[in-house]
Amino acid sequence: MSLSALTVRISRPYSRLASTYDAALGIQGFFRIRSGFEYLVRRYGVRFASAADVGCGTGIFARYLRCCWGVPVFAVDRSAEMLCRAKRALRDTDVHVFRQDVRCLHLPNPVDLVTANFDMVNHYSARQTYEPHSEAFPGI
Ligand SMILES: C[S@@+](CC[C@H](N)C(=O)[O-])C[C@H]1O[C@@H](n2cnc3c(N)ncnc32)[C@H](O)[C@@H]1O
Repeated sequence: MSLSALTVRISRPYSRLASTYDAALGIQGFFRIRSGFEYLVRRYGVRFASAADVGCGTGIFARYLRCCWGVPVFAVDRSAEMLCRAKRALRDTDVHVFRQDVRCLHLPNPVDLVTANFDMVNHYSARQTYEPHSEAFPGI
């Protein structure tokens, strides 16, 4: 299966889930992700002055990064419907939202930190679909 066909197959279900995602999974998941993230930041002394949340879904974590860490943030997702929700959630922030496939990620500038939370890459099981990841973050 080609990369673009696979991407459509994966993004479609999320597009259908977008309107109920936060209530069903997103908010509950966010609290767990936040606590894991803060543990890792403390444990490894992670420091960052800019960030991108890829597979950002409805934008909750991107919002958290911007509002709680005060760094510039890019939010990237493949699903137009999820991004529509993200734009709404981020409308009062200066987070830049992009519709992209993370395997061909192209950010306007490099960032210190990239987060990919909650079932973002585990859909891609075939080895060849992972290979582009080696070149996915050339500027970071
Ligand atoms: C389970 S949701 C997680 C959303 C968000 N990270 C969270 O923690 O709630 C997975 C997200 O990854 C996105 N996604 C999956 N494959 C992607 C790809 N190749 N490029 C960009 N986004 C992708 C989906 O559209 C979906 O919004």
